[in-house]
Amino acid sequence: MRIPLIAGNWKMNMNHESGKDLVRKISNKVSASDTEVVVCCPFPMLLEIGKCLSDSSIMLGAQNMHWENSGAFTGEISADMLLELGVKYVIIGHSERRQIFLETNHMINLKVKKALERQIVPILCVGELLNERETQQTERVLRDQLENSLVNITTQEASKIVIAYEPVWAIGTGKTATPEQAAETIGFIRGWLKEKYGETLSEKVRILYGGSVKPDNISEIMESPNIDGALVGGASLNDEDFINIIHFQH
Ligand code: G3P
Repeated sequence: MRIPLIAGNWKMNMNHESGKDLVRKISNKVSASDTEVVVCCPFPMLLEIGKCLSDSSIMLGAQNMHWENSGAFTGEISADMLLELGVKYVIIGHSERRQIFLETNHMINLKVKKALERQIVPILCVGELLNERETQQTERVLRDQLENSLVNITTQEASKIVIAYEPVWAIGTGKTATPEQAAETIGFIRGWLKEKYGETLSEKVRILYGGSVKPDNISEIMESPNIDGALVGGASLNDEDFINIIHFQH
């Protein structure tokens, strides 16, 4: 039985006051129930938001990290710096980092390896572009991203990873993948895991859906036994929306 996981990705939004206000509102309404909740806030807020979450079951996440421990990497943040701030999860390979900052599968693979080495749970993002979906290239693209983001990742390491399927054409567009599309594609990802790592692992790894998840579509998305939760962008910035997503009902 995989424990559902709802992760909020604030992206480059909020400030210290609005962020603390938001987490105070949601932490009052989230108990250590049957769903794990993670809040991934911008780097400068991690310390304060982490303090606000200290008495809550909600866990702290980051939105990126570098693969080296230290050095001449201007503007970057290391895994150890995140650990110092109480970070337990880290989003790696988000499509915005792949598209805007030209992160390669190789860079993402190094980040996944480092996160696992430092015992931070990587949320590895994969997903296709609209033209790739429309030209039936989704499975080819996902296979390429998975293969090359998980090079030299052992079965034991891979068992600790969370995967987020985020069709790029559904992110921030209000155009959510249909539950059938999400379930079918996440079923492909789970099948790839089985092919590479075996059935036990493929049944253990949690796979999230991300892309315009809202209170009015989360229940339908979660009806698929293949889908273990959501990576939520815009709706995670509103306390009521995020709470309603967390408290989804089958
Ligand atoms: O990482 C989650 C994000 O990419 C989804 O954004 O606003 O479509 O929920 P949104």
